[in-house]
Amino acid sequence: MPAHTSSLSGHGQTVCVTGAGGFIASWIVKLLLQRGYTVKGTMRNPDDPKNSHLRELEGAKERLSLCRADLLDYESLREAITGCDGVFHTASPLTNDPEQMLEPAVNGTKNVMIAAAEAKVRRVVFTSTIGTVYMNPNRNPDDVVDESCWSDLDFCKNTQNWYCYAKTVAEQAAWELAKEKGVDLVVLNPVVVLGPLLQSTINASSIHILKYLTGSAKTYVNAVQGYVHVKNVAHAHILIYETPSASGRYICGESVLHRGEVVEMLAKFFPEYPIPTRCSDEKNPRAKPHKFSSKKLKDLGLELIPVKQCLYETVKSLQEKGHLPIHKHPQNSFTI
Ligand SMILES: NC(=O)c1ccc[n+]([C@@H]2O[C@H](COP(=O)([O-])OP(=O)(O)OC[C@H]3O[C@@H](n4cnc5c(N)ncnc54)[C@H](OP(=O)(O)O)[C@@H]3O)[C@@H](O)[C@H]2O)c1
Repeated sequence: MPAHTSSLSGHGQTVCVTGAGGFIASWIVKLLLQRGYTVKGTMRNPDDPKNSHLRELEGAKERLSLCRADLLDYESLREAITGCDGVFHTASPLTNDPEQMLEPAVNGTKNVMIAAAEAKVRRVVFTSTIGTVYMNPNRNPDDVVDESCWSDLDFCKNTQNWYCYAKTVAEQAAWELAKEKGVDLVVLNPVVVLGPLLQSTINASSIHILKYLTGSAKTYVNAVQGYVHVKNVAHAHILIYETPSASGRYICGESVLHRGEVVEMLAKFFPEYPIPTRCSDEKNPRAKPHKFSSKKLKDLGLELIPVKQCLYETVKSLQEKGHLPIHKHPQNSFTI
C-alpha cells in the first residue's frame, strides 16, 4: 500500500461521494472509511440491492450514510453535499447513447459544482477520463500525452464518440464553474479501470474483459487501450484530495496494450476459456500504442500495480462474483 494510506487522516471530516455504489466509487468509499472519514454516498435508489455491498464495508455502520440523489435534481444533491468538507463526483452514465449520456454528465456535473460552491466545501475531486484528453486527430501519435492535452469536441462529435464528447464538455464545465465560483477543483483522468469488483452487478469496463472469456467476442479489434487498477484509481482520488498542493488534472494509467496483448495475457493465465486468437482486422498494420504520462500522479507518491496483475485479479473477481463460470483446466498452474 502506498505511503499516503499508512496513517489515518480523515477523522472528523465528512465527504460526499456521488454514485457511491458504482465500480470505482465503491472502492473510493471503502478507502475513505478505512481512513476514518465520515461518508455520504449518493445514489438514485439506496434501497436497490445493487448498493447493499456498501453497508458491509468496514466502518459503514458507524460512518456511512446513503442518500437518495439524482444528478439532474439539484435539491437532492444540495442536501447530500451540505455540511461536507469535500466532494468526490464520480457518478456518470457510461454509455455511447447521447440521450442517456449528455444530460447527466454535463448538467449533473454543473449541479454538483454549484452545490459544492454553495456548501463551501474544501475541495471537489471530479472523476473525468483519459477520453477528455487524447481524442484529437491532430495530435502527433509519437507525442507523449499529458495533462495539457484536450480532446477535440468536433472530432468526438464526427466520430460519434458521445461518451468522450459528454465527459469533455462536463470537465470543461466543471473547470469554468470552479473558476467562476471559487471552488478548489482537482480532476483525475483515468484510462480503462480494471480489477476486483466490490459490487454484485457488472460494470462497463469489466465487460471489456469479460467478453473475451465468454466466447461472445470471436475476434479482437486492432486497437490499443490504457489500463489501470481500480485500487490505484481510488487511492489517486484520495491522494489528490488530501495533498494541499495538488492542482489541475492528473492522468492515471499504468500501461497501454494492444488488444492482441490483452488476449495473449488472458490466455496464458486462463487457457480454459474460449479467448479469441484472431484480429478482426488482418489487413492493416497493428495499431501502435499511444504514449501517455502519469508522472504528475506518480510524483505525488502513487505506485501503480502492473497491468498483468490487474487482468488476473479482474478475471478472478468475475469468477467469484458469478459473472464467469469456473472451468478447471489441468494445465492452469500459471501464477503471477
Ligand atoms: N470504469 C472505467 O474504465 C472508467 C475510466 C475512466 C473514467 N471513468 C469514470 O469513472 C466514473 C465511474 O465509473 P464506473 O466505471 O465506476 O461506473 P459505474 O460502475 O457504472 O458507476 C457509475 C455510477 O454513476 C451513477 N449514475 C449513472 N447514471 C446516473 C444518472 N443519470 N444519474 C445519477 N447517477 C447516475 C450510478 O449510480 P446509481 O445508478 O446507483 O444512481 C452508478 O453507480 C464515471 O464518471 C466514469 O466516467 C471510468
